[in-house]
Amino acid sequence: MSQSHLALMSAPQRQPLVARTVAELRAALAPYRRAGATVGLVPTMGALHQGHLSLISTARERCELVVVSIFVNPSQFDEQADLLAYPRQEQRDIELAAGAGADVLFLPCVEEIYRPGFSTSVEVLGLTDRLEGAVRGAGHFRGVTTVVCKLLNIVAPQLAFFGRKDAQQTAVIRRMVRDLDIDAQIVTLPTVREANGLAMSSRNVRLSPQERQRALALSAALHAAEALADTGERSAQRLRQAAEAELAAHSVQAEYVALVDAESFEDVDRLQDEALLLIAARIGQTRLIDNLPLRVSARSQDPRQSTDQGDAIAVCSA
Ligand code: PAJ
Repeated sequence: MSQSHLALMSAPQRQPLVARTVAELRAALAPYRRAGATVGLVPTMGALHQGHLSLISTARERCELVVVSIFVNPSQFDEQADLLAYPRQEQRDIELAAGAGADVLFLPCVEEIYRPGFSTSVEVLGLTDRLEGAVRGAGHFRGVTTVVCKLLNIVAPQLAFFGRKDAQQTAVIRRMVRDLDIDAQIVTLPTVREANGLAMSSRNVRLSPQERQRALALSAALHAAEALADTGERSAQRLRQAAEAELAAHSVQAEYVALVDAESFEDVDRLQDEALLLIAARIGQTRLIDNLPLRVSARSQDPRQSTDQGDAIAVCSA
């Protein structure tokens, strides 16, 4: 790409460009695309926190032009009350995204994405039947894949960034991109947590101080199962029970606790190499999800041998 464009984009304190329509966005991207810039997309629903900002700053490192979309997508909400209560803070989000390195913000209204007569949807089958799909209904992932497919078509990025926090969503999006030959690389990044282990989420703002305390049960339960796996336990049932016992100790009832293959999201009976432990639970009115990869570390293969802690998963970098 040309020196002048690179200079423009690396200028400090740059103001992000705000596009509210598909036409505005395409016009803004055209010169960069002609100049051969690597375009990165970070799709979000706003109420940005450190989890989102970590995606944006990684996109900044890896791409010449970073587009962040902020769109509270009605079609993926299974509860009207959740959609209405979803936090919206546009001006703050623009500043946070710009501070993390966004060049262009795409802030469409609902009618811009779902124009009158909109009647197409994109659905990944199978992978979406379980867990989040089972609890939230088929419409949830259909809403996610339809909007993400549209965003990938609108922005046409070489790279798109997603969080492991929503592990099933990311797996569903990867499958869609593969099945539909969408020409974008999906980059998955680790879950960002508060120092106490709570996975960052836009919905955390709805938790009362007491609920925040109870919400720690999710990460504590994941780590209880991880600790048991580190002792050599391989039974999925006993690993799940360890997580459930920790949730119960915090008076939290899970919607599900599952140990699954990280690609197919099918249950596994035994932990071999690596599997994903997933939890969903309601804390008061707020629904939270979290997950942790469990790995068979050298240490836990034979606890008498190595004391190497290299494979242990740190609370702050799951
Ligand atoms: P949203 O919940 O705003 O999340 C946007 C992206 O941020 C997702 O890829 C999500 O996995 C990631 N993310 C959320 N919390 C995170 C955390 N604590 N650490 C790291 N990454 C985190 O997910 C959606 O929006 C929507 O479904 C969307 C993909 C935008 C489609 O509407």
